[in-house]
Amino acid sequence: MNRRQFLRGAVALGMSVTAGLVGCGASQSTSSLRGSSEQARVKADAGSGEPPQTPAAAATPSDLAGRTVALNNGIDMPRLGIGTYILSNAQAEESVYAALMAGTRLIDTARIYGNEEGVGRGIARAGVPRDEIFLTTKLWTADFADAAAAIDGSLARLGQDYVDLLLLHHEDTYDEDAYRAMEDAVAAGKVRSIGISNFYEDGFDRICAMASIQPAVLQNETHPYFQERSMREHLASSDVGTLLESWFPLGGKDNCDVLFSDKTIVEIASNHGVSPAQALIRWHLQTGNVCIPGSGNPDHIREDANVWDFELSPDEMAAIDALDRNQRFAWY
Ligand SMILES: NC(=O)c1ccc[n+]([C@@H]2O[C@H](COP(=O)([O-])OP(=O)(O)OC[C@H]3O[C@@H](n4cnc5c(N)ncnc54)[C@H](OP(=O)(O)O)[C@@H]3O)[C@@H](O)[C@H]2O)c1
Repeated sequence: MNRRQFLRGAVALGMSVTAGLVGCGASQSTSSLRGSSEQARVKADAGSGEPPQTPAAAATPSDLAGRTVALNNGIDMPRLGIGTYILSNAQAEESVYAALMAGTRLIDTARIYGNEEGVGRGIARAGVPRDEIFLTTKLWTADFADAAAAIDGSLARLGQDYVDLLLLHHEDTYDEDAYRAMEDAVAAGKVRSIGISNFYEDGFDRICAMASIQPAVLQNETHPYFQERSMREHLASSDVGTLLESWFPLGGKDNCDVLFSDKTIVEIASNHGVSPAQALIRWHLQTGNVCIPGSGNPDHIREDANVWDFELSPDEMAAIDALDRNQRFAWY
């Protein structure tokens, strides 16, 4: 049974997919690391007015100055956020609260994570104005046949009138029906932007061909060992303006230590007095990927938010680019 089949089975059985997963990412001392929560509290400049950028273009320092990127629908999306995969409701509440307090404004959840209520509680507790937050959730495959009801269900669990981005979690039967339901939800004001996740060239083209609203975002596994270059090139050549968002940006819970101990990444992090996690996040940002590192540890969350006051050199970017080995850490 692969992971996808497991998750489908879990949904059918009403199981929590957050249970039983082990951690990596040994806690690191943050005392010597670059950045502070005070710096992270600086609110990201809305920084719009720039034309939408294609995901194939590496981000320049001035692109990153605003900390947001304009989607193909003109809506600004923060370039850096927090992921909530495998967090319980209680952990998600704490993580979302810590992230918002640290200045992070992009939050990623999904119906299948089983933590939308916790995410909503974290948002409510933080008291950050809703229009400063960019909230993403995803429609699970088992919900595709009745996506309109699933969207209402997610909004109810999140305690929100709308989400900023709704994604199809995976390519599957009825995904075109679900995509049309997402388009209807945009018209109804329940969703601001729509996109897809875990789609590759053929599936992406299929959705674009039937879509009235082109996908604003493609969220796929992306990290230095699996850089999604061919998909990035495909997105750029498609002329749709879809942005690549990276899941497993640090390698995921079970494999982040592999990236954290990669000698190229360790050396580059050391050059800047930052942690390997911070160096990895900075590589994503400078590559042009939106990046949503996941964490249940408030110290890590503050650390991950503090990546705006150093810059990887072209040689350092090239050295990380050279680590690409087409190695996925997930089973998709
Ligand atoms: N669309 C999809 O199919 C899909 C699939 C997977 C994930 N996602 C989304 O993408 C997000 C990111 O992926 P992910 O969370 O699975 O993996 P990830 O962000 O690559 O890695 C998460 C791991 O990194 C550790 N970590 C984070 N910051 C750290 C730091 N500063 N120092 C040390 N360790 C650190 C975390 O441990 P601690 O908790 O101890 O900090 C956790 O074990 C998810 O949370 C989810 O929102 C989407």
